[in-house]
Amino acid sequence: MKVLVIGGGGREHALAWRLSKSPSVEELYVSPGNPGIAAVGKCEPAVDYVQFAEARGVDLTVVGPEAPLVAGVVDRFRERGMAIVGPTAENAALEGSKVHSKRFMERIGVPTARFAAVTNDAEAREALRQFRLPVVLKTDGLAAGKGVIIAQSNEEAEAALSSLAYPMVIEEFLEGEEVSFIVLCDGKHGVALEPSQDHKRIFDGDQGPNTGGMGAYSDSRILSSAMRGQIMDTIIEPVVRSTAFTGFLYAGLMMTPAGPSVLEFNVRMGDPETQPLMMRLESDWGEALMAAARGTLTPDAMGWSPEPATCVVMAAAGYPGVPQTGQTISGLDSVTDAVVFHAGTKRSGGDIVTAGGRVLGVTARGADLQDSINRAYAAVGKIHFDGMQYRRDIGAKGLRRYNG
Ligand code: AMP
Ligand code: GLY
Repeated sequence: MKVLVIGGGGREHALAWRLSKSPSVEELYVSPGNPGIAAVGKCEPAVDYVQFAEARGVDLTVVGPEAPLVAGVVDRFRERGMAIVGPTAENAALEGSKVHSKRFMERIGVPTARFAAVTNDAEAREALRQFRLPVVLKTDGLAAGKGVIIAQSNEEAEAALSSLAYPMVIEEFLEGEEVSFIVLCDGKHGVALEPSQDHKRIFDGDQGPNTGGMGAYSDSRILSSAMRGQIMDTIIEPVVRSTAFTGFLYAGLMMTPAGPSVLEFNVRMGDPETQPLMMRLESDWGEALMAAARGTLTPDAMGWSPEPATCVVMAAAGYPGVPQTGQTISGLDSVTDAVVFHAGTKRSGGDIVTAGGRVLGVTARGADLQDSINRAYAAVGKIHFDGMQYRRDIGAKGLRRYNG
């Protein structure tokens, strides 16, 4: 079949890389793609994805990022009877609006932090009195992981009120391990991918501001099969049943002493979680995605390697603020033992240069978690661009947990 991937970041590079190895996929288009993706598929920009797919006889379209989903790309494909993996615009609002998402969870009984939805300073101050410190403030709309402030003091909470836009969710701070639980859904059923863990803060030891994600690893030991079952029963299945959800449902979970609690839903795969996940996937990805689009997903739709994988994000100077762009990237060709997924890169003459905040996702599989970490960092050590920043401790929490 001919497959179109919509997007052009690290997640889409990983999706396309895996699709390019699927026996069921004959031709692969990625729109707009990026210089790394160009090695595995045909990259072309599109004004209108429906027209693009029709003109090329595309059999299946997979949507990477949330923006086209929120804009209704899935609805438009379905109106024409074209196969696509992703949620409707209505269901994409689960990610597009935190207020909507929290109210929805409350209504169907999905465990999530206690919250108040507020629309102005007076309501916010009233709500803040009901929560202990630290307290979490979240702006309602899409904010690329940067619309959340964890206030440690009343002064910080007050400052957050002026730096975040209304409407806002104010919620209880939860403690525990965060897990990314991503499920492929066909409108009736969900089949979980392997668990993974993101590293959201910019600096080692989870210090500094939140980012879109500075690295991720996937290891089966992150969740027992009993816990996976509990998450499917209490969180995923209720959502799929009540919304006829299609596409990727990503539950950002906090594993609290009282059980898993939903921090947020995303309606797409995670970036950078997709990068290690795609390195662990061993079955035909095109077939699994087509089954999801057709409503014929089976529990054995995906097969996974037991070997863990780790992705280290190399980011530009300035990120997560305004990134410095245009720096020449060297060493890409010397990496042999890992896959370098491109995120913010572009071609400039004969060079690949930086063109965004998160530049590369250097990803490796290994015999165990430590081995996958070693391989990823060995590859990182061969790559250079001026001002590059990356965390040195991706996967370290996992190592401490399993070895301790
Ligand atoms: P969100 O966009 O809602 O996932 O929030 C971004 C990040 O903020 C999460 O990945 C957590 O690290 C942190 N966070 C969000 N909500 C809470 C909460 N209620 N308690 C503790 N940390 C939170
Ligand atoms: N890595 C977090 C996200 O994709 O939302």
